[in-house]
Amino acid sequence: MSSLTRIVPWSQQLIGEVLRPGVLAVDLTAGTGRDTLALARAVGAEGQVVAFDVQSAAIEQTSALLKSHGFAVHAWPAEQVLPVRAGVFLIQACHSAVGRVLQSPATAIMANLGYLPGGDPLLITRPASTLQAVQASLGLLAPGGRLAVTVYPAHPGGEEEGALVNTLFSHLPSDRWQVLSLRAANISRAPYLLVAERLI
Ligand SMILES: C[S@@+](CC[C@H](N)C(=O)[O-])C[C@H]1O[C@@H](n2cnc3c(N)ncnc32)[C@H](O)[C@@H]1O
Repeated sequence: MSSLTRIVPWSQQLIGEVLRPGVLAVDLTAGTGRDTLALARAVGAEGQVVAFDVQSAAIEQTSALLKSHGFAVHAWPAEQVLPVRAGVFLIQACHSAVGRVLQSPATAIMANLGYLPGGDPLLITRPASTLQAVQASLGLLAPGGRLAVTVYPAHPGGEEEGALVNTLFSHLPSDRWQVLSLRAANISRAPYLLVAERLI
């Protein structure tokens, strides 16, 4: 696939545009840690990054990747509210806990749905918990903040999952939200990106 239709770099670019040193950024699906690393680089040492994943393998990969790039990484329990504190915090739990764990406004939140590349395809994001996480994330965004969701309609349940997020985003009032849908128009069931920006 050419770079035009590769969705993940678009997601990182659109999220990177709103990030600056010192802010809070959230990765709802840590996976291999590549998105978490991009967030950590953008917010810098004074910023805070919080990354969720249900799988220990993903948390371990993310931790190793961040450490190899010089970031200190902390494990955080999903049962406790996370205060504003600089650093990278990894939470091994379902991302539907995001609204409970975080109570401070976030500048950027990303969710790259689906399963861990090279991992167990049964450990996949699910429509109901994804919708819960995305709804809570909209409520956490600071003015000017963005929430980017990458959807994989070819994965089992991916079509339904994307449709739920799309419906939610489509109904956001346009005086307070801008929503972008970015997808390859001529590739059937290609991954696509939905981005919501809170205006005020
Ligand atoms: C496509 S991968 C994420 C890719 C990742 N952002 C990266 O940079 O490599 C999707 C991840 O979502 C995780 N996941 C599945 N269900 C989840 C849930 N309910 N809450 C949090 N993470 C979940 C999977 O374990 C998998 O690691």
